[in-house]
Amino acid sequence: MATKDPKLSKKGSPFSTTTTTNPTPPKTKKTNYIRAGVAILAITVALTQNFFRSAATDLGLFLGDIQPFNTAGCEVVPGGLEACEDIHLHRESGLAFMACGNAEARKDWFPPMARLNASADDIAFQDKFVIYNVATEKYAEMELAGLPEGTDRVFHGIGVHERSPTELTIFLVNHRRGGSVIEVLEYTIGDKVVQYKETIRHELIRTPNDILATGPRSFYVSNDHKYKSGVNRELEEVLRRPLGNVIYYSPESTFVAYSNVVSANGITSNKDQSLIYLSACHGAGVHILRANPDHTLIEEEFLKLDFYNDNPSYEPETDSVFMTGHVKPLILTMGLKKKGIQLNGPSKIVKISKDVLNGGHRVETVLEDDGGLISTGTVSAVDRKRGVMLVGTAFSNRGVVRCPIPQGA
Ligand SMILES: *[C@@H]1O[C@H](CO)[C@@H](O)[C@H](O)[C@H]1NC(C)=O
Ligand SMILES: *[C@@H]1O[C@H](CO)[C@@H](O)[C@H](O)[C@H]1NC(C)=O
Repeated sequence: MATKDPKLSKKGSPFSTTTTTNPTPPKTKKTNYIRAGVAILAITVALTQNFFRSAATDLGLFLGDIQPFNTAGCEVVPGGLEACEDIHLHRESGLAFMACGNAEARKDWFPPMARLNASADDIAFQDKFVIYNVATEKYAEMELAGLPEGTDRVFHGIGVHERSPTELTIFLVNHRRGGSVIEVLEYTIGDKVVQYKETIRHELIRTPNDILATGPRSFYVSNDHKYKSGVNRELEEVLRRPLGNVIYYSPESTFVAYSNVVSANGITSNKDQSLIYLSACHGAGVHILRANPDHTLIEEEFLKLDFYNDNPSYEPETDSVFMTGHVKPLILTMGLKKKGIQLNGPSKIVKISKDVLNGGHRVETVLEDDGGLISTGTVSAVDRKRGVMLVGTAFSNRGVVRCPIPQGA
């Protein structure tokens, strides 16, 4: 997220100059300085038009206020789920896997947003792994059998590999205080508990965000930032430096599969994994990638969007990607710094599908909300068979919103 920290200019701004004792420099020298300054500024602007465009978009300067659109019939899933960031839908069974936390506690501890107060209340480290049944509308908080007692649970992206139609391996990003890791879980459809298998740590997996599973022990994982904290982190944010990347992990070899991403976030793929969709939040766009046989990734297309797109979700029936994100991301960034205030983050969902006639992709807005119902929306999963779209929200205490599939979507 964008953290325009006003403190930045005070503490160690790289642009601050120290005035020396030289009293009044001669006039001509001064004009030269001004000329040079203007020239440098002009060159910078020319070189960074894209930067300003992205910055304006991800600060929400283009869209203005939005009204609810296509939200008729949407309802909050009752039961007090909060801060359910990622939703992974298993379409055969109609079970949705989601990780939910505490919206207020995330303001103290959530490394992806540089919230790093390790003495946050215990609730900040006790996220729930939830399975929601779309057909029955019931959900259960699952026991993670075998995960050592007292292990921090700060869940984020989810990736699922189907070993068989009913046997699943689930990869779950966990931002433990001791460092972010990937928890490997196994679940058989119908079981009462989820089995914890192992924890994967790797020096290249520094700031994990989301996972695309490719096998029982292999996956792609996005690193949203390079720096975790401090001035470097703030500069990375403010200057929208392309320091995010995607790591390919397997027990045999782990390497950077794709780099130069401006805040790499949600990652997903089409059914046969020939195309991979990677959200670049601060880049206000989505990288559409193709995997080489050696698991490195190459870009096919960079699709520019007009909002702070967050997490993509693939829907096989229409071969399209539903992208959810924030229309006023600044509200979100600022709101995270204020405790005791419910965040009202206007959200938007677009559908990205192949443009068969003209080539490339088509982007249609399918749902918008002013934040009154869907606030800080981060992901939407479409269950075509059951006519339902589930929308997850990262920093709202109205955790998951259940909608009919929007008209035309
Ligand atoms: C860290 O969190 C605890 C618990 O909410 C709070 O009392 C403390 O003030 C926080 N520290 C900072 C630096 O925000
Ligand atoms: C989704 O959206 C949230 C909210 O902005 C973001 O912090 C997160 O990194 C994204 N990725 C996943 C996997 O939820």
